[in-house]
Amino acid sequence: MRFLATIGALAIITAFGAAIFFFGGFFNVAATEPDPGLVNWALVKIRTASIERHAGVTGAVTLDDPTILQTGARAFAARGCVNCHGAPGMEWQKFSEGLRPDPPDLKEIGKEREPAQLFWVIKNGIKMTGMPSFALAGAEDKEIWAIVAFIKKLPNVSDSDFKAWTAKP
Ligand code: HEC
Repeated sequence: MRFLATIGALAIITAFGAAIFFFGGFFNVAATEPDPGLVNWALVKIRTASIERHAGVTGAVTLDDPTILQTGARAFAARGCVNCHGAPGMEWQKFSEGLRPDPPDLKEIGKEREPAQLFWVIKNGIKMTGMPSFALAGAEDKEIWAIVAFIKKLPNVSDSDFKAWTAKP
């Protein structure tokens, strides 16, 4: 009985301590403050697991059609992805270097992720990071699939391809 009472008391004290720490403003939300290694590790694990569970598997989609690819490149430029992620022959905006977590290199990410996972992230965004939900920003599924096709092809897209595909008619 005394044992249970001690556990209960400890739980209450911990809850009070956490409340004072977080609501009293002691937790530092500054992006300049690096997260402890354990938090970083957990965030990556949680993000990957969440995307895998929610995205499901890739169904039958055509990602190799050159027209879709070029539509994707144009959408990638028009939707502002370039500002944070850069593109072939185009630097990201300087401000994106201040984002924590920082926007990944999509050439690399494109190799590691299934099309359905890329689709899900672009559609839904990632909470508490700079990655926006493009469904909330008004993009239709078709446009998002075209962007996925473009990301999958990124390692083979030259600077001049990207320039030609995104040139104003
Ligand atoms: C305001 C900056 C910003 C813009 C604009 C932006 N992103 Fe991101 N994006 C991020 C950040 C930050 C992350 C990293 C999130 C993380 O590490 O959890 C990210 C992550 C991603 C990922 C990787 C997710 C994963 O599986 O780990 C993909 C794919 C992606 N963005 C695609 C896009 C596309 C496509 C667009 C445009 C339609 C876009 N992003 C626009 C900031 C941005």
